[in-house]
Amino acid sequence: MPIKTMEELFIHELSDTYSAEKQMSKALPKLAKAADNEQLAAAFEAHLEETQVQIQRIEEVAETLGIKLKRIKCEGMEGLVDEGKEAMEKVEEGPVRDAALIGSAQKVEHYEIAAYGTLCAMAKQLGYKDALRLLKTSLDEEKATDGKLTMLAEGGGNERAAKAA
Ligand SMILES: [Fe+2]
Ligand SMILES: [Fe+2]
Repeated sequence: MPIKTMEELFIHELSDTYSAEKQMSKALPKLAKAADNEQLAAAFEAHLEETQVQIQRIEEVAETLGIKLKRIKCEGMEGLVDEGKEAMEKVEEGPVRDAALIGSAQKVEHYEIAAYGTLCAMAKQLGYKDALRLLKTSLDEEKATDGKLTMLAEGGGNERAAKAA
């Protein structure tokens, strides 16, 4: 059935993001394991914990609104996770792989920032106040993670990679 209303589109986007977060919760432990730099591994582990809360938050949004999440697969995230896996397999362990992992993870964060930004705009338009508050919290976490990864890339990771070459 085609999506006709803004409410239906919101449910679709929320369900898609739910799938994206679930995929990421499976990928993050692998990223942490593949990372050489301890701080980077710790950042992935910290974001795994946040991601688990973000999954619960989406369930809370659905509950608050009395809607049922759809079983759909976020293909955008699937592609990003596949590319991350490729980086893990193709790049030798160490600072160069860390730089590749940071790049892959930042692509994911930007994707999530776009997803939550869209959901926040829709929730605002639809007058979903509680949902907006919850979604904004996750949006802020994604932005903070992206910032942390930028710091790791600039403040150590990538610099070490350049020296290793
Ligand atoms: Fe997330
Ligand atoms: Fe994230």
